[in-house]
Amino acid sequence: MSIDKNAPIGIFDSGIGGLTVAKAVAKALPNEDIIYFGDTARVPYGIKSEETIREYALEITDFLLSKGVKMILIACNTVSASAKNEIKSKTGALPVLDVITSGTEMALNQIPNNHIGVIGTLATVNSKAYEKSIHALNSEIKVTQQACPLLVPLAEEGWIDNEIATKTLENYLSVFEHSNINSLILGCTHYPLFKKAIPSVLKSESIRIIDSADSIALTAKQTLNELDLLNDKGGEFQCFVSDRPQRFQELAERFLGRKISDVVVTHL
Ligand code: DGL
Repeated sequence: MSIDKNAPIGIFDSGIGGLTVAKAVAKALPNEDIIYFGDTARVPYGIKSEETIREYALEITDFLLSKGVKMILIACNTVSASAKNEIKSKTGALPVLDVITSGTEMALNQIPNNHIGVIGTLATVNSKAYEKSIHALNSEIKVTQQACPLLVPLAEEGWIDNEIATKTLENYLSVFEHSNINSLILGCTHYPLFKKAIPSVLKSESIRIIDSADSIALTAKQTLNELDLLNDKGGEFQCFVSDRPQRFQELAERFLGRKISDVVVTHL
């Protein structure tokens, strides 16, 4: 199968969280066309069963394939934890990257890293995907996980820097207070939206915050380069959602800090 280098990169998430990845990709690869899909009708994924998450993820994969993408970035930790292999079997030779692999690599590049904290959705934490992925590379590292299910609805509501967001973060992050973690992986792509508030809630400046967005963007660039698939004349950013396009557009423009073309509703 030959892949068209001028085809778009497909990026998806359950909602707006994956925009943190899309933003990093657009910055690292300004000449690439990007197709983003946010499953706004069915967000949040993190409280659903693995079977359901897999079913949704494969439907989105079919949609992105129908758009002729040349690469897929799974910009959702919950999907990465539950459906990465199934997506890869569907896409064949097409490169597929996921945020858990990127987040793990980034965390392990930090020194010292004898104790890593991970926050994520219930599904990601229950799957122990980060623990497995970290221990596959270094079994000595202690991993402390904390599920933060309320952060996704808060982010989707745009409540990222008010009192309720701070109180919620304080509650969830208190588990790390006396734990001596060196790094904290933001194991959900919605969580970087709270990036400003997290360090002050953690009350520690020495804990490094790991956001896999930059890391996956860099890997995407390297992969496209190695496969000779870099585009040099793109730069379009097109969003598709399964519900509430205006609301998505508003939040997306606020977060990306720029206007985007009209968001299209697609029923999978
Ligand atoms: N942003 C997603 C993640 O990285 C999914 C959040 C959700 O829908 O619960 O896990």
